[in-house]
Amino acid sequence: MADETYDYDVLVIGSGPGGYVAAIRAAQLGLRTACAESRETLGGTCLNVGCIPSKALLHASEIFEEASSGHLAKFGIEIQGATLNLDQMHAEKAKAVKELTGGIEFLFKKNKVTWLKGRAAFKDAHSVEVAGQTVTAKNIVIATGSSVTPLPGVEIDQQVVVDSTGALALPKVPEHLVVIGGGVIGLELGSVWRRLGARVTVVEYLDQILPGFDGEVRKESAKLFKKQGMELKTGTKVTGVTVEGARASVSVEPAAGGAAETLDADAVLVAIGRKPNLDGLNLAAIGLEPNARGQIATDHSFRTAVDGVWAIGDCIPGLMLAHKAEDEGVAVAENIAGQTGIVNEDVIPSVVYTMPEIAGVGMTEEAAREKGDVKVGKFPMVANSRAKTNRDTDGFVKVIADAKSDRVLGVWIVASLAGTMIAEAAIAMEFGATSEDIAYTCHAHPTHAEAMKEAAMAVTGKPIHV
Ligand code: FAD
Ligand code: NAI
Repeated sequence: MADETYDYDVLVIGSGPGGYVAAIRAAQLGLRTACAESRETLGGTCLNVGCIPSKALLHASEIFEEASSGHLAKFGIEIQGATLNLDQMHAEKAKAVKELTGGIEFLFKKNKVTWLKGRAAFKDAHSVEVAGQTVTAKNIVIATGSSVTPLPGVEIDQQVVVDSTGALALPKVPEHLVVIGGGVIGLELGSVWRRLGARVTVVEYLDQILPGFDGEVRKESAKLFKKQGMELKTGTKVTGVTVEGARASVSVEPAAGGAAETLDADAVLVAIGRKPNLDGLNLAAIGLEPNARGQIATDHSFRTAVDGVWAIGDCIPGLMLAHKAEDEGVAVAENIAGQTGIVNEDVIPSVVYTMPEIAGVGMTEEAAREKGDVKVGKFPMVANSRAKTNRDTDGFVKVIADAKSDRVLGVWIVASLAGTMIAEAAIAMEFGATSEDIAYTCHAHPTHAEAMKEAAMAVTGKPIHV
């Protein structure tokens, strides 16, 4: 496979979960591999300013809320005077990020992947310029990821008006945080700052939060976030944000038209989605046109329209998730090596890491019903014995199966451990399981996972514990 005409067999642009995984897998398969990354550290959005720091703050803020709110008193644990040291919380988050980004650097060295430090721009389909040098490769993988979608007329200054990166590093707890966008970022980071003491208002353009999630899950989640003290202004649009000193005024009005109102805030988080990073790549040099949504189209093997150029992760269509990017990274490397790398885009779990967690895989009930007859089984966490012992009974598990074949089409969970529980559903669906397969699989007692078994039993109307 090695072709000495080129400096490398594979050059990956971007070292996020898509790019670094593609590079490591390519090297494991014996290909001479380089990865261009312009950030100071490897790991992309996910490790530096995404999944990892957000989960570190979600975990820390959850412990803080437990310790400071008196919630633990019912377990006989009385804590008085718990105080917040936000600098220390940020420092511990930074440590986790450093350990993990350093870990990728170690893996690159171990696998002999060359890190080309700098921004890459195409010169032709087999060469890019990085830091003033031309580097050639037989195959080039675009894994440049995504960045925040700007809201026209709203300037992100990372002081008062922040994007997710700014919201992960606020130096003090805001008094009132207005979040624009009731999606995953808004709800996760809104939860962090609410737990640490901020008043949080989420402004969502659509009638419900969490687009793309199952309808019942969206309703239940909204109910729980409100119960936790988050204000949700759905069906509301932001018409402008003005900043004066350390304060912002956010003008909002009903999306359907109606009386305008102004929200006074000391922090505003813009989280209305993300868009592919293609600026500066010089795609024109290879004649590659992004699609109407600014993404790079590929076939199932992750080949673009240009021979020798491949693309994966957030910059191609599909869910913008780290594990999807990682799986595509493995697949693209295997395809380049002449193997068959496949990603089943229908079975990619999504998880919102709030408390309770919100997770789903496969079709929503609405989408499944549009396609044909379905049977749905639901089991409330309040009837799960382990959730009872742990006093975390919010939520439910819902299994959607094809009415005729009983094959599982989708699973949706609101539960403290939903992110972990959804893995079982993904593996069941990957193996083409029926709801009966799950219902007749022995689940350990007492575990939250038993709720999955009971929801599967409910598909044919015979759960034991409700
Ligand atoms: P990225 O991780 O965006 O990496 C792309 C890299 O390419 C970047 O480092 C960039 O600097 C580099 N790059 C771009 N252009 C060039 C160039 N021309 N030359 C050289 N380098 C370049 N997903 C989850 O699954 N779970 C989560 O919990 C989760 N939490 C998130 C929290 C936040 C706050 C955010 C913002 C995102 C979160 N995501 C999460 C989404 C996840 O981060 C992305 O789906 C994932 O990082 C995409 O991986 P990627 O490899 O496609 O791109
Ligand atoms: P998102 O697409 O999840 O949510 C954006 C929300 O903003 C939507 O509800 C949308 O209707 C709303 N919106 C759009 N324009 C608006 C406007 N003008 N005014 C008010 N609301 C508006 O995008 P988000 O939260 O920015 O996250 C980006 C991506 O990052 C997600 O798609 C997700 O894939 C990824 N991510 C994943 C996480 C996870 O897996 N736990 C955590 C954080 C991010």
